[in-house]
Amino acid sequence: MCGIVGYVGPRQVLPILLSGLSKLEYRGYDSAGVALLSDDRIKIFKKKGKIVNLITSLQDKDIRSTLGIGHTRWATHGGVSDSNAHPHTDCSGKIVLVHNGIFENYYEVKAELATLGHKFQSETDTEVLAHLIEHEYQKVVPLGLAPTLAHFEQAFRAALRQVEGGYSIVCFSQDHPEAILAGRMHNPLIIGIGQGENLVASDVPAILPYTKEVYNLQSGEVATIKSNSVKVTDLEGHAISFQTRTITWNAEQAEKGGYPHFLIKEIHETPNVLRQVLSGRIIDHHVEGATLGLDGLDLRKIRKVTLLGCGSAAYACLYGKYLFERWGRVTAEMFYGSEFRYHEPVIDGETLVIAVSQSGETADTLASIHKAKESHPARLVGIVNAHGSSMTREVDRICHLQAGPEISVASTKAFSSMITTLALMALYFAQTNNPGLAMQGFLDELSALPETLEKTLQLEDQIAQLSTFYIHKQSAYYIGRDVNYPCALEGTQKLKELSYIHAEAYPAGELKHGPNAVIHAGFPIVCLVPQGRVYKKMLSNIQEMRAREAHILAIAQAGDTQIAKHADHVIYQPASSEEISVMVSTLVMQLFAYYVTLYKGFSIDQPEGIQKVYPMPGHITSVPKSIDIDKPRNLAKSVTVE
Ligand code: F6R
Repeated sequence: MCGIVGYVGPRQVLPILLSGLSKLEYRGYDSAGVALLSDDRIKIFKKKGKIVNLITSLQDKDIRSTLGIGHTRWATHGGVSDSNAHPHTDCSGKIVLVHNGIFENYYEVKAELATLGHKFQSETDTEVLAHLIEHEYQKVVPLGLAPTLAHFEQAFRAALRQVEGGYSIVCFSQDHPEAILAGRMHNPLIIGIGQGENLVASDVPAILPYTKEVYNLQSGEVATIKSNSVKVTDLEGHAISFQTRTITWNAEQAEKGGYPHFLIKEIHETPNVLRQVLSGRIIDHHVEGATLGLDGLDLRKIRKVTLLGCGSAAYACLYGKYLFERWGRVTAEMFYGSEFRYHEPVIDGETLVIAVSQSGETADTLASIHKAKESHPARLVGIVNAHGSSMTREVDRICHLQAGPEISVASTKAFSSMITTLALMALYFAQTNNPGLAMQGFLDELSALPETLEKTLQLEDQIAQLSTFYIHKQSAYYIGRDVNYPCALEGTQKLKELSYIHAEAYPAGELKHGPNAVIHAGFPIVCLVPQGRVYKKMLSNIQEMRAREAHILAIAQAGDTQIAKHADHVIYQPASSEEISVMVSTLVMQLFAYYVTLYKGFSIDQPEGIQKVYPMPGHITSVPKSIDIDKPRNLAKSVTVE
């Protein structure tokens, strides 16, 4: 994540940067910093920890400046420290920048720049870019001539052309105090067009107090932002004409990115989250273990993997269990944290314990980590989202989920990151334990997952429309087989916690052993039916339920020509292997649960004639009062009690 803000204009910049950063703190809070141009020199102030630390440290300072940039960090490359905090500079200290994203090839570039004499002050990928711009700048300025802004722009574009990965960057130079340069590849960057002043930020709330006129910089575009003008070009310098749009949201709506709830905003963030999760982890047809917390482990000596988590994290662990065994050929077990703490676990020197948590503060998961440690000093990996949380201090190795702050109580993007991370880990095991596995197909599917999920989000209108049918249901079953059973569990979790509709998940073959008794005419059953080994078995199960007049909602794959005959409603998601279909179906079920809840809320608020007035996604301007989607009743985001 990370949040960026920049300003150029007649006002004093420091308060603008600090208030902008406070509005972007949801994007990360490991450290914060600002760089300002004051008395023709760059002044940098940065502090580890939340923005309040930076604000406090600047309280007595009178810094006059009308151009500056700021950053709030969600650490990826390099630990949480003052020196790794942004902004970063080149060797001369005349070029300064802030960055959101990952510069994937920074290591090679850093090595090359080091041989040319560049000295680095931090462990970050970001600092390498400042030096790369400096290097290009030295190349383009003709000997004996004074450098111009055009030279600086040229150097900026040349450096960005060498960057692999996603980024948004905001930069300025002491030599050219009239302008801020900005560049974007995937990660968001918005330019705010004011009257005699202009701004740039990762998200609208930071600029909303000054202007409602914005341009969303597109991937591959760079901008030169002066107080009275904004120029946009491509990476080669060709001019691009752009259209601004007017923000109609108020401040509260803006914090949700214009979405009615954090939950739906966070669902939409999933493709970008997975871009971060996958970045640098699949290289040259293999999975890199370093940032997964698995490097240096002798996998041949690991006989069992014990996966621990609570709630949705436990369902992610169950999915992990299937893949560790299938792909990684290592025995795996899943335990709920709340159960494991009272269990007599068999853990020995050949066990790898993996604890999974978004918050890193879940009391039961922490207790289960202690239990594991008491049983045997086994190797302990924590898969965790919240940096600096208790869990990060309890485990030997940390693998970050990189989902950014998740504000909605019901987990969405963090869960998707958990299952994707566990799939990568299982493939990492396969490299040692299962050389016969045809891994490349899975690696390709994982690499393409962000785009696959972007396509899946295009089903939103259809899913919303379909969900109106389910708002008056009292209960539902979700069924799947194999890896789609944990996926079904997570589907019911979302429906239950958001809509308060009772739901249960079963492995599809289990219904006939008891749960069938509940089924009656019109009873809704959500069936996960991707193409694959168990597809035909799923069709037989569906037929059995149809014979009992159940109502079938099938989540199937594009190109499936049979399923429509067996189901009342079908959602056709982009095709993938059974294993990877779990990430795709998860997104579909999250959207489904969200819209069932939203429309159920509308129908409670407005019982008369509601069928005719359900607003479709993109047209929702108000939210129902009866259901609080972001804060479901009886739940908390971080369960720090037993
Ligand atoms: C469900 C949900 C919870 C959490 C569980 C564990 O949407 O969010 O079930 O998954 O409370 O929380 P963490 O992952 O923070 O340990």
